[in-house]
Amino acid sequence: MLSKEDNELLSQTAAGTPMGNLIRRYWIPALLSEEIPAPDCAPARVRLLGEELVAFRDTQGRIGLIGEHCAHRGTSLFYGRNEECGLRCIYHGWKYDVEGNVLDTPAEPGDSDFRKKLRHTAYPTHEAGGVIYAYLGPRDKPLFPNYEWTQVPLNQTYVTKCLLECNYLQGLEGECDSSHLSFLHRAVDNARNQPLYKTDTAPVYETEETDFGVRLIATRNAADKQHYVRLSAFVSPVYGCVPAGRPTNELDGFEIHTYVPIDDTHTWRYDIGFHRSRAVQEDEVHRRKQIGPDYLRIRNARNNYLQDRQMQKTVNFTGIEDFLNHDACATESMGPIFDRSREHLGVSDKAVIAVRKFLLSSVKALQEGREPPHIVREARRNWFPHIDCFAYLLPQAIHWRQHFDYLTISGEKENPAAFACRSRLNSSMTNGKTT
Ligand code: FES
Ligand SMILES: [Fe+2]
Repeated sequence: MLSKEDNELLSQTAAGTPMGNLIRRYWIPALLSEEIPAPDCAPARVRLLGEELVAFRDTQGRIGLIGEHCAHRGTSLFYGRNEECGLRCIYHGWKYDVEGNVLDTPAEPGDSDFRKKLRHTAYPTHEAGGVIYAYLGPRDKPLFPNYEWTQVPLNQTYVTKCLLECNYLQGLEGECDSSHLSFLHRAVDNARNQPLYKTDTAPVYETEETDFGVRLIATRNAADKQHYVRLSAFVSPVYGCVPAGRPTNELDGFEIHTYVPIDDTHTWRYDIGFHRSRAVQEDEVHRRKQIGPDYLRIRNARNNYLQDRQMQKTVNFTGIEDFLNHDACATESMGPIFDRSREHLGVSDKAVIAVRKFLLSSVKALQEGREPPHIVREARRNWFPHIDCFAYLLPQAIHWRQHFDYLTISGEKENPAAFACRSRLNSSMTNGKTT
């Protein structure tokens, strides 16, 4: 459990709060590229960490993420005219560029330089893999981290976004909790092949702090003197990397489930996935069918996630369709902000505890004037082969780290051999490993 104070500290992310200050030190998803698909298209409203913003793509394709309310008298720039390299307010025509400069105040006298004294809120952005990331922190912004999923060709990656109606931490903790796989996502019919979750419902958990966050390892006993090892990663401050959407023993990418606070009781969940070697097939992104054009899930708390009690007896553990909705039901039904002073943690919550500890110590570092972990400032350290995930069957006699020797505890030892090692593993897979 957490004290009430620590629970509040981790849950509150508005400007000026300790956790809000921490998250603002990192690049985080702000919206999808498809929300502002073309130069001079309609702007998009963006709610992020309690701030009301608007995003637009200007005539030259540059992206602006600026305060929603006009610096003049507050009209929403969402309704503005996106034209000639700027967003123009519909009330009195003030015009802003992507950096928040006021380009024009046409209702003022022609010789007025009033506009030059103004600077509207504007945040840096970076577009990669169908996602527009933003940095909301102080001026000395870090490098955009070259995560592997931001570097692959666009046709090898996919992304969905949907609203989660609770605090971000509830969603994020779900990604760090391998034990729920054996229950929440369990099929009770035999139509789907999930023997590996079923055989051993009480895995052995290991966690280790790394330079990027926490590596999480759940090891289950499997048939034929094997271990079923699931390795996932919490990447600070809001990314949960999981071996989702991949058959066992496949190392061709993974998924990154990201929980970005809109405010303290609403969260955008971004599910990013990528393949290292091939294009994504449309039918792989099954989640899209669960999400409406407004990024709201069709199954939600107001319709009890369309739970089917008969299906719960015969098909799956929840009676609810799709992992996305299982996760939402489990985490939203805790309430908007769960009071963690009331919980009872067990051995299976080891990874959740490790992630909270990491976040609390990062907040403390920032409060004490030290730079928190995983803020990237050096180009030579801006690559992350050791952020990896897999679900793998290994002989019990072999420790997983022997097999995946590029996964060192800290980032200090990383080197280009890491990728070479991984391709060796991929070829061993195609040579007939168990699935
Ligand atoms: S309120 Fe926007 S120009 Fe006046
Ligand atoms: Fe889940």
